Amino acid sequence: MTHLSQYDPEIAGAIENELNRQRDGLEMIPSENFVSRAVLEALGSVMTNKYSEGFPGKRYYGGNQFTDVVENLTIERAKTIFRCDHANVQPLSGSPMNQAVYLAFMKPGDTIMGMDLSHGGHLTHGSPVSHMGKLFNFIRYKTHPEEKGRIDFDELMRVAKETKPKIILCGYTSYPRDYDYTDFKKVADEVGAITMADVAHIGGLIAANVMRNPFDYGFDIVTTTTHKTLRGPRGGMILSRGVVSNPLKAPENTRENIPTILDRSVFPGLQGGPHMNQIAATAVCLKEAATPEFHAYAKQVLVNAKSLATALMADGAKLVTDGTDNHMMVIDCVKSWRIPGNEAEKLLDQVGITTNKSLIPDDPNPPFKPSGIRLGTPALTTRGFTEDDMKIIGRTIAEVLKNPQSDDAKSRARTTVRDLTQKHPLYSGLSVL
Ligand SMILES: Cc1ncc(COP(=O)(O)O)c(C=O)c1O
Repeated sequence: MTHLSQYDPEIAGAIENELNRQRDGLEMIPSENFVSRAVLEALGSVMTNKYSEGFPGKRYYGGNQFTDVVENLTIERAKTIFRCDHANVQPLSGSPMNQAVYLAFMKPGDTIMGMDLSHGGHLTHGSPVSHMGKLFNFIRYKTHPEEKGRIDFDELMRVAKETKPKIILCGYTSYPRDYDYTDFKKVADEVGAITMADVAHIGGLIAANVMRNPFDYGFDIVTTTTHKTLRGPRGGMILSRGVVSNPLKAPENTRENIPTILDRSVFPGLQGGPHMNQIAATAVCLKEAATPEFHAYAKQVLVNAKSLATALMADGAKLVTDGTDNHMMVIDCVKSWRIPGNEAEKLLDQVGITTNKSLIPDDPNPPFKPSGIRLGTPALTTRGFTEDDMKIIGRTIAEVLKNPQSDDAKSRARTTVRDLTQKHPLYSGLSVL
């Protein structure tokens, strides 16, 4: 960063400090990861200078011969990896990708079913504080926490028949299980809805075939962020079939071809010029995602999550859903140690373990003082952490949260964090990271 350090030392200093924070701590927020140097180079490239409104071959500006190469490659790689007919790689992030789908197929006031926020759904899945929650009639379904997070599909079918949603949306930001997409599809076919899965969190795990792919179950649309388990730049993708899977029953406007409707919804419907540097970096992360190394990484993310969950539960942690099938888990800190999630987050921050406070299903406490914390293994697995490291981390977290007043416990935890981060260095030497 020689140019930046000379020209703007304040910003260069903050970036350097952030690098050291990432290197010296345990990053356990399940939606975060570390991108490769190749992804960073594409993101910091001259592609950021270019306006490319439109799509490859159909741009509103001249000089797009090389951005077309980039976007076409990104689209083809995405289609191959996710086994679908169409990919729009322009959404600036996860929230606009979902908004573009809703606005493509629904009018204000139309009905859509999504998972309740406190049960794991995302803000864009109909939380009353999001504009989407105000614009559309979201019907929120829930899980059975006492049945390890199972979704009651009989109830979902009953409500869907009553409310006739245009879209059945599944997907989550804080739910430690996999879905059986067949059940969602059955409900959607019964009521003539489009099926949409927001796999923002698990996109990389699906890409590596270690979690179920909704397209294999006949889903129409899949959205994913690119910056979580997929280990790319911040961004979103909308993946789809060419035509809806239930054309005779689906809403009138979807009988046209889905890709065109979705593309128009992203541009000019919702966005202007795509961020071509971000799309170039997405192409790179998709190339990485197709390698055997990435598949092994994704497998290890799941092994690590199981190991961490087991260690935490052995040390008295009450996990929402009592275990995990994916890369994350939510600890009910109030039930486990009688401390709220915001306090747990702060205590762990003090020893260099970064997590985030989280609601638990039907949380009696408000979002800023919720009952839980959410943690996951994607970022640490990228650094090379193994299931044995996770056992140590699980014990360390439990010790700190069990003894919130103990300076000795914190001091021991800081030593553990230092040893582990030195064992698995980040962005050092000639490594790809
Ligand atoms: C399931 C899900 N969808 C959408 C988003 C939104 O992504 P972004 O923060 O990039 O807008 C997130 C982010 O956490 C998410 O978990």
